[in-house]
Amino acid sequence: MDYELLEAQARALLDGEPDFIANCANFASFVFNAIDGLNWAGFYFASEAGELVLGPFNGRPACTRLPYGRGVCGKAFTTGETVVVDDVHAFADHIACDSASQSEIVVPLRAGNRIYGVFDVDSPHLARFSRDDRAGIERLVAAFTSLAEPAGSPARAN
Ligand code: SME
Repeated sequence: MDYELLEAQARALLDGEPDFIANCANFASFVFNAIDGLNWAGFYFASEAGELVLGPFNGRPACTRLPYGRGVCGKAFTTGETVVVDDVHAFADHIACDSASQSEIVVPLRAGNRIYGVFDVDSPHLARFSRDDRAGIERLVAAFTSLAEPAGSPARAN
């Protein structure tokens, strides 16, 4: 994957649009369609309820609410680090939303020193996300967070 080109395309897609939800929706669709071998790509956001709540995505309908400390998404959110899982069946706390998913990468969403959610990408292939994919997807998410910011959402300091 040419992540440098994908970053330029993502920036062009988001730049100049102030609506956060519109940018989330287009970013999820862009990632889902631009990267091979995915079955889901989308957002979960911190909420007042202390759970990650489903945001814009592409793919099959997904779990609506994920406890902060649970699953791959919860781990990325609470640690503030990207989590790559080569085989979700070997990750004890994985929360299965689509039984087709075999591997997963979750990248925290940062605004300054706050983390306000995660971007989750799933694949029906084992070990779909290489080191290059991790760096590339982190780069795309960094482009997203530099161009789109939610208004006053709950977040955790990190
Ligand atoms: N597998 C995730 C839940 C979200 S769905 O994959 C879209 C997790 O374990 O956090």
